[in-house]
Amino acid sequence: MRVDVFTIFPDAFTGPLTESIIQRAQDEGKIRIELHDIRSWARDRHRSVDDYPYGGGAGMVMMAPPIVEAVEEVVGRDSESASVIIPSPSGELFTQSMARELAQSARLVFICGRYEGIDARVTELLHGREVSIGDYVMTGGDLAAAVMIDVIARLIPGVIDEESLADESHTSGLLEYPQYTRPHTFRDLSVPDMLLSGHHARIAEWRREQSLERTLSRRPELLEQAELTETDRRWLANHAASDQEAESCRIDRAKRAELPHDASDVEE
Ligand code: ADE
Repeated sequence: MRVDVFTIFPDAFTGPLTESIIQRAQDEGKIRIELHDIRSWARDRHRSVDDYPYGGGAGMVMMAPPIVEAVEEVVGRDSESASVIIPSPSGELFTQSMARELAQSARLVFICGRYEGIDARVTELLHGREVSIGDYVMTGGDLAAAVMIDVIARLIPGVIDEESLADESHTSGLLEYPQYTRPHTFRDLSVPDMLLSGHHARIAEWRREQSLERTLSRRPELLEQAELTETDRRWLANHAASDQEAESCRIDRAKRAELPHDASDVEE
């Protein structure tokens, strides 16, 4: 896979893309990442790449010409042969399934904006896809691009072993079960006995339930899209019911605790 990143801060990528697994993938030729400084395509002697927004408002907007000309020169006029990603807090949400889809592309292009964003014509002219990595606003698209490249690169065949990908969070739409390693006991906390039982089928079942429980309590909205078996559904139905019971007990207790309060309010 070839990845071209257009940025005004190429140094922001050293570190995220030059360590560990991603560096090894580059050394092994599984991914080639090229950084391009958008300022090299600026048209004036001050190397300006931004200007005031039409219609007024705070901040500066990155201009279309240097970016479009940079991408056309590096990628070619036919940028449709590549997937062009424009990190933006107002883009569609980046997910593991989008990463799997992008990992199939032979060529990816990232265009990183700073300031108040990028002239909207860049997305149109380069057939870009605006993508957000989460519901928060960062100072620019560079770190968001680095996050996406990291997620996509590890899905390229051979970058990490297939077994690690199979069980991890989000692969089947659930959060991953908790993991433990030695020592067996640390600060009075011991590894769950089940993991020492040596009974592989029961361990797999326990881990599945842990995944379901974590997903139900931390990210219940993921359950709507998750791949669930009949056993999973039964487990969830039981636990959702007992969660509801616990919740109504909690409400009852809260109501009882409030009663004396209400009574004294009436007396006053
Ligand atoms: N640029 C600023 N915030 C961002 C976000 N949440 N996702 C992608 N790009 C961004």
